[in-house]
Amino acid sequence: MTKINENFLKLPKNYLFAEIGNRVEAYKKSNTKADILKLGIGDVTRPLPKSVVKEMQMACEEMLDINKFKGYGPYEGYEFLRKAISDDYAKRNTKVEINEIFVNDGAKADTANILELFNNNTKIAVCDPVYPVYVDSNALAGRTGEFNSSTGKWSKVVYMPCTKENNFNPELPKEKADLIYLCFPNNPTGSMISKKDLQKWVDYANENGCIILYDAAYEAYITENLPHSIYECNGAKTCAIEFKSFSKDAGFTGIRSGYTVIPNELKVEGHQLNQLWLRRQSTKYNGASYIIQRGAFARFSEEGRKEVKEIISYYQQNAKVIFNGLKDAGLEVYGAVNSPYIWLKTPNNMSSWEFFDFLLDKANVVGTPGSGFGPSGEGYFRLTSFGTKETTEKAVERIKKLI
Ligand code: MLT
Repeated sequence: MTKINENFLKLPKNYLFAEIGNRVEAYKKSNTKADILKLGIGDVTRPLPKSVVKEMQMACEEMLDINKFKGYGPYEGYEFLRKAISDDYAKRNTKVEINEIFVNDGAKADTANILELFNNNTKIAVCDPVYPVYVDSNALAGRTGEFNSSTGKWSKVVYMPCTKENNFNPELPKEKADLIYLCFPNNPTGSMISKKDLQKWVDYANENGCIILYDAAYEAYITENLPHSIYECNGAKTCAIEFKSFSKDAGFTGIRSGYTVIPNELKVEGHQLNQLWLRRQSTKYNGASYIIQRGAFARFSEEGRKEVKEIISYYQQNAKVIFNGLKDAGLEVYGAVNSPYIWLKTPNNMSSWEFFDFLLDKANVVGTPGSGFGPSGEGYFRLTSFGTKETTEKAVERIKKLI
């Protein structure tokens, strides 16, 4: 008889952002006139850069031309885009070879699929709070043990608390883990790490045979002199995989593109991981669409960079409006400086979900409950700066009135 993968049954019923979506829809059904302002999921609202759209239009035209039409593309992505990505690292004085880059259709799937490279007994360490995809995908792979609903923790996961006491920066894990997930600028807390501190993680990983899975999705939001890539640290090529999404800088949440870097030097038990990944990709993946890759290529053109900069500064301005507005209202707020996320302490000791309901009902503003990101997120709340300027200002005014 066919049996289900029981790991599915251990997961929370819904993915965090799906749960929020459901609750908002239910609220809308009984409050049909509510003017709901969404600052929950980190979904962008600025239109795509014109240069990206123009390039995709040209790519579409090519599909009508017998001499230019493209069928299956390279599994790793087209060389024109991989070279543009490698050159982009070089601009930041970081060396990443073209053959270390794998283009994907959005970084989210790779952060989960990468687990296929590692044995089932692999132990993971995650920041707490954390982007839920890392934990859920390990749970699906059967690596997380049992979920304890009173602690909010999985028995086999090493949690690295990120609290206001440590400036929302994790300390080296007390218990040994094989795979360590790091994300800077951090989702959800918006915290950032110095190069010196990141180097400590790289040294620790090299000394202990760990691999760091480094999510750089929000690097474009860094305003201070801080590392944009883990490969700015010495020795990172022998211990780190880096993921980068084009969603949050060039607006690709809908059209999907990003990339994964697996360095040539990165080996486990003598096996070169990027060769294994290529084997995996060629079996399970036929590459991102040519049209989208051309759009992503334009993101690195002079015009594309200028447009991306404008998009980022628009969201950064929103982040300031939220941060300053809520701070003036007397709330305890974090993040925003190098990040599109604002992390706030819920007022009056409300739990994260209580505050979610309160805000939705009394201000018609949607945010993300901190406890959805892990037990140390309890009592916190995340707002995103990816809304429109008008939505952002209106939401802040409504929250101020409530507090
Ligand atoms: C977020 O808001 O943290 C992400 O955009 C959600 C996701 O990628 O699922």
